[in-house]
Amino acid sequence: MKIRPPESIALKDILPKTPVLLMGSGPVPVPPAVAVANSMVISHLGETMKKIVSRIQLMGQYVFQTNTTKIFGIAGPSSAAMEMAVTSLLWPGRKVLVLNMGTFSARFTELAKGVGAEVTELFPDGLSPFRAHDVKLALESKQFDVLTLVQGETSCGVKNIELEAIVKLAKSYGVRTIVDAVCTLTTMTCPMDEWGIDIALVGGQKGISAIPGVSLIAFSEETFEFISQRQERMPHWCLDPRRAYRFWGLGEYHYTAPVPGILALHEALRLICEETLEKRIERHLRSSTLLQHSLEVMGLEMYTPAEFRLNSVVAIKNPHKVITKDLISYMINHHQVEISGAFGLDIIRIGQMGEQCRLENVKKVVSAVGAGYEHFGVKLDVQSAMSDLDKSRESAIALDLAYGMTL
Ligand SMILES: Cc1ncc(COP(=O)(O)O)c(C=O)c1O
Repeated sequence: MKIRPPESIALKDILPKTPVLLMGSGPVPVPPAVAVANSMVISHLGETMKKIVSRIQLMGQYVFQTNTTKIFGIAGPSSAAMEMAVTSLLWPGRKVLVLNMGTFSARFTELAKGVGAEVTELFPDGLSPFRAHDVKLALESKQFDVLTLVQGETSCGVKNIELEAIVKLAKSYGVRTIVDAVCTLTTMTCPMDEWGIDIALVGGQKGISAIPGVSLIAFSEETFEFISQRQERMPHWCLDPRRAYRFWGLGEYHYTAPVPGILALHEALRLICEETLEKRIERHLRSSTLLQHSLEVMGLEMYTPAEFRLNSVVAIKNPHKVITKDLISYMINHHQVEISGAFGLDIIRIGQMGEQCRLENVKKVVSAVGAGYEHFGVKLDVQSAMSDLDKSRESAIALDLAYGMTL
């Protein structure tokens, strides 16, 4: 052999001695049951896997609030699920209206252009969500086949508060909708059937607190039927939903499924079902409100106006031109807490998804942000923020006792 093996370095010697608490825009910490499931490999076919797949679909129906049986896991990130949705419904000659409010909604444009579709982009008025009346004007200007939008734009912390109206409007114009609920599913309501969403998708690493690299997509029965009838060649083999149905519908081979990821997804969904969507959404709301309040008490300012502020990823103005990259490194190295910067905006972002929404984690991130900014010379009232959080510990305990809602 000409090329010699590199020195053997065990993972434990690469990982930090104290684990870093992930309080950024994802991935998020996973519950122990998810971590255990993610360490197992079983056969990707056979009776056991069939049972697991059908349980994932049943629980998927609950989290997406849909009766569709066309729910598939994908061995790939949320972007792969976006790609499956876009490439199923679009091809040369088809027209898509992309509601573009930032990095992730813009990804739909790239994906649609990739398959030769005709793309029209609509942009909101500054930092704001889309309004149904503006979307209506766009829908009247041309006959579109598809409309894409995100429920929450993670890059700037804005939520599309008129999503339901926009989806219903699109339907009334005969336009199919693809909804990216990547950072929002199970953190806020997104009832697929009630709102008439045609394709909804989510990644593993955010609200559902599963693992990165495995995602879940739901097609309405009617949309899946439409895709089944399409004559144009599918550009993808792995991301072809008709082929995915072989595994997810018939228990047959499509490709070797990401077994640990599927097991992890199962456990994450099981925990959501046990908690119930109502309690989980309430927990996210309480935890995120608490976080935002304590950061404001400390003296920081929210970037997004409260009216359309995304709770699952909170965007905060970066005061006094601190270099966010340096702040983040400092917090990781000295406090073992990681938050996110942003794509070109002078903000920091703190995640409130799944396991991030626990009182202990909120306390840790608030304290680390305070200490980090103080290190870079920003005067903040960290003490008041922390004592505020201590007071909420009592109400959190009361909530836990009364409703089993463990913040
Ligand atoms: C709203 C939204 N959509 C899509 C994505 C892409 O996810 P992934 O990196 O898993 O492909 C993200 C990732 O942060 C996101 O926040």
